[in-house]
Amino acid sequence: MGHTSGCALLLCALLLACAGLSDGRQLYQAPLTPLQKVQAGYFNNTALFAHMREFASRCSSIARLTQIGKSVKGEPLLVLELSNKPGQEEAKPNFIYIANMHGTEPGGRQLLLTLAEWLCASYPKDATAQRIIDGMHLYLMPTMNPDGYTEDLYENINFVNLNRDFPDPVQRKGKGLTASGKEQPETTAVMNFFLSRPFTAAANMHEGAFVANYPYDGTPSGNTAYNPTPDDGTFRFLARTYASRHVMMANSTEFPGGITNGAAWYPIYGGMQDWTYLSTGTFQITLELWDIKGTAPPRTLWAQNRAPMTQYALWSTLGGLRGSVRRRGTLAPLEARITVGASSTVTRTTKRFGDFYRPLAPSNTPYLVRVAVPALNWTQSFNVTVPYTGRGALLNVIVP
Ligand SMILES: *[C@@H]1O[C@H](CO)[C@@H](O)[C@H](O)[C@H]1NC(C)=O
Ligand SMILES: *[C@@H]1O[C@H](CO)[C@@H](O)[C@H](O)[C@H]1NC(C)=O
Ligand SMILES: *[C@@H]1O[C@H](CO)[C@@H](O)[C@H](O)[C@H]1NC(C)=O
Ligand SMILES: *[C@@H]1O[C@H](CO)[C@@H](O)[C@H](O)[C@H]1NC(C)=O
Ligand SMILES: [Zn+2]
Repeated sequence: MGHTSGCALLLCALLLACAGLSDGRQLYQAPLTPLQKVQAGYFNNTALFAHMREFASRCSSIARLTQIGKSVKGEPLLVLELSNKPGQEEAKPNFIYIANMHGTEPGGRQLLLTLAEWLCASYPKDATAQRIIDGMHLYLMPTMNPDGYTEDLYENINFVNLNRDFPDPVQRKGKGLTASGKEQPETTAVMNFFLSRPFTAAANMHEGAFVANYPYDGTPSGNTAYNPTPDDGTFRFLARTYASRHVMMANSTEFPGGITNGAAWYPIYGGMQDWTYLSTGTFQITLELWDIKGTAPPRTLWAQNRAPMTQYALWSTLGGLRGSVRRRGTLAPLEARITVGASSTVTRTTKRFGDFYRPLAPSNTPYLVRVAVPALNWTQSFNVTVPYTGRGALLNVIVP
């Protein structure tokens, strides 16, 4: 009896399952993969922050989530760090992508989440993903202006344009390079993050055109005119590294080669890229990734920016000059200052490892590299060529 009724129950369950199969198709559709989910549409702030937290725990072997501050309305300013040793100080360069500093330019929100998902899914089998994760600490900030995004504001909630809110180093206007204390909380958080560790290179993501824009953004005169930094050759190379791989930039009729000097396009003051270049020696460019603000399909953005994003991060950090400065015998790391040619940019070695990273365009003509160790009153110059392979030039200096 028990046996018979057990059979009947089983048959019944099978029939129900079959009924479910025939009329409930969606029940059996595979759920979206995380990569498909971040490409399906735009997340609001709640969903974005939740996804970043979930990502950091799902990909915890290569990811770490950090809150670097809060927006005016108290939203967390979150940064994902990707590396094979996330959260640890290592002899490796730091790089950051910052998106959505203008609330009405959200493309980079989903784009940076997509980059994170791709790295998590592709490491270590994909060679590019492996070079990035093993070679650097990659930081991704999908939104610098969460309040502006929610309110559909270009500025932050106090109506301040965050890309005019950094201490203005070009015209100076009496402000210099240090914080005035009047910056918006979003600006302060990002400034403090740039000051917290040596960032070799960076880019920030916007919409309104297709172009890679490089410093200076300002001119002392205030007129629209090309204002090159002393590292113009390297900045042009870095902007081309991005633009030449981007279908819309590379084919631009408005901007030859898809690149422009900021001040030659239109001068701005208090922008992020001029400030990081002059204050922390971080080589940063500004990317305009879509022409009509707020309309970029995440899948198209990813298709167009995947190669530019990965290659720019690699070339800017590992494709230039890098090395270390140590004491003979003990090999103790030394605090040194590295300068190149006539450039005023000073690259410093880290206290802990004595390592340094200095973006430089490839060149067969040698650069004159000066290494100074102030504590020992020691200076030496080296002729260094930077290969066209992307592998960079290595300069390991042993000081007597
Ligand atoms: C944010 O998006 C989620 C998921 O789509 C939705 O459930 C939630 O209601 C949204 N929150 C707000 C404040 O719009
Ligand atoms: C520029 O456009 C041409 C023609 O559409 C295309 O073949 C080429 O790949 C584009 N350039 C880049 C870098 O994608
Ligand atoms: C540093 O070295 C230079 C050149 O060798 C020398 O002229 C100078 O006196 C030294 N300064 C100190 C503080 O030792
Ligand atoms: C670098 O090369 C130039 C030109 O060949 C030479 O004059 C100079 O002495 C070299 N400097 C160093 C430090 O090797
Ligand atoms: Zn913008």
